[in-house]
Amino acid sequence: MRKEIERVEQAIQAALSGKIVSIISSGDPGVYGMAGLVLEVVSRENIPLPIEIIPGIPAANAAAAVLGAPLMHDYAVISLSDLLTPWETIERRVKCAAEADFVIVLYNPKSSQRTWQIEETVSIVLQYKSPSTPVGIVKDVSREDEEIVLTTLGKVTSCSIDMTTIVIIGNSTSFQYKDYMITRRGYQW
Ligand SMILES: C[S@@+](CC[C@H](N)C(=O)[O-])C[C@H]1O[C@@H](n2cnc3c(N)ncnc32)[C@H](O)[C@@H]1O
Repeated sequence: MRKEIERVEQAIQAALSGKIVSIISSGDPGVYGMAGLVLEVVSRENIPLPIEIIPGIPAANAAAAVLGAPLMHDYAVISLSDLLTPWETIERRVKCAAEADFVIVLYNPKSSQRTWQIEETVSIVLQYKSPSTPVGIVKDVSREDEEIVLTTLGKVTSCSIDMTTIVIIGNSTSFQYKDYMITRRGYQW
């Protein structure tokens, strides 16, 4: 982290020298990953290199699958990292998504340096959603130490959350059945 531009520039230099170079991101490289920065640098300097983006499975989708089906209706994906984005922008996006009853996926919810953002986010969301709204917390999804917690919006801040965790807050139709978090699509029968 924080050396992304140098890594991209080194990779481009290696590629320009004739090597085939791969830059790897976890999940999907185009979701808070390195694909965008590579293309930004290449486009700014108009560097004549062929680039292929190989899609992966974003943590949001991997986490949704282990939780059940929480992303069955419209959802907003918001990163709580204010390293590259002003907090005021993040706060506004959280407010708008909560007010519009989106399912909300939170990336980068907390780190050792950024501890208050998740609490502030939950307090904004609680202005629009019930404390009983289901919330899925998945740590290290698809990895050896994967941990899955199903809780509610009222209790989420007392759960363990860190840098390798993703949080999915339901909408007003989301519910828990056994160990599954489910968002209704709207079917009637
Ligand atoms: C820089 S973003 C990378 C996102 C990644 N490119 C993707 O497609 O999901 C890092 C954030 O993604 C989430 N994340 C990445 N891998 C994860 C995993 N295995 N389990 C849970 N969350 C993960 C966490 O919220 C972490 O703070």
